[in-house]
Amino acid sequence: MNILLLGKNGQVGWELQRALAPLGSLVALDSREGDLSQPESLRQTLRAIRPDVIVNAAAYTAVDKAESESDRAWLINAGAVALLAEEARAAGALLVHYSTDYVYPGDGQRPWRETDATGPLNVYGQSKLAGEQAILAAGARHLIFRTSWVYAARGNNFAKTMLRLAKEKPALAVINDQHGAPTGADLIADTTAHAIRALRQQPALSGTYHLAAAGTTTWYDYAALVFAVARQRGIPLALTACSAVPTSAYPTPAARPRNSRLDLSRLEQTFGLTMPDWERGVRRMLDEVLDN
Ligand SMILES: NC(=O)c1ccc[n+]([C@@H]2O[C@H](COP(=O)([O-])OP(=O)(O)OC[C@H]3O[C@@H](n4cnc5c(N)ncnc54)[C@H](OP(=O)(O)O)[C@@H]3O)[C@@H](O)[C@H]2O)c1
Repeated sequence: MNILLLGKNGQVGWELQRALAPLGSLVALDSREGDLSQPESLRQTLRAIRPDVIVNAAAYTAVDKAESESDRAWLINAGAVALLAEEARAAGALLVHYSTDYVYPGDGQRPWRETDATGPLNVYGQSKLAGEQAILAAGARHLIFRTSWVYAARGNNFAKTMLRLAKEKPALAVINDQHGAPTGADLIADTTAHAIRALRQQPALSGTYHLAAAGTTTWYDYAALVFAVARQRGIPLALTACSAVPTSAYPTPAARPRNSRLDLSRLEQTFGLTMPDWERGVRRMLDEVLDN
């Protein structure tokens, strides 16, 4: 099986290099070698490599910047994905793609199901939803994984930012009215590998799935765990006070959903998986980060 991985240096892409390696012959490209903003060269690359599976971990992920750079967000998150889907369909390849909790409107308390109505609140979410829709329209075999609050030991993420700020500042304010599940890039990559193997046996499993850690938290409680683990390990923190604040206290260019809870039952039942609680993965990532 020939596998093409795009976005190999992102959080998820980096872990996919590891998780996809035993599945077949893997060609992994960075943003220069497989540039989603260059349709013609992307098409040529696909036709030269002739993959059986295309895994697209590349995306325009700067949520706030997307509000002022919407053309580029749409080019990468929607236009390029349409091209990947058309090429996959023509070649009979499987397209694996990642989407986001930001396709949902974020109201209510109930975990979203894949069949719920979408309603993105910002340009990033709109462009990601358009990418999903382009895959469905092209008719390629696909796995679309909607994930949330991604972190990895490698790269920048919320936990590492909180750790840095807690070393520098005596007081912090963190949002406590957005709910979701921090999800490790390693979990996403390993689940992807399982699902690709299952789909090879059963093409009818093609579809859209939530892929996240189990349980939910808020950014405030997530930050509190980061600080607690750091203190337990004797890391000196300047932080003495952390207050919980509503989203309205922290205005950003892009609006963000309050409710990012994702129902995982379709993924778990279809692929026979049990997603671990978010806290286990975060603790493991912190162990890795704090040991270095
Ligand atoms: N991060 C989250 O919290 C989150 C939440 C929900 C869903 N997702 C989705 O999960 C997937 C993986 O996200 P991630 O957190 O791994 O993202 P990431 O760490 O920001 O990585 C994105 C990757 O895309 C690459 N890229 C950007 N523009 C490109 C272009 N024009 N051509 C080719 N590659 C390009 C980047 O390369 P350079 O670094 O070289 O620019 C980077 O390697 C994405 O589809 C994202 O939308 C992420």
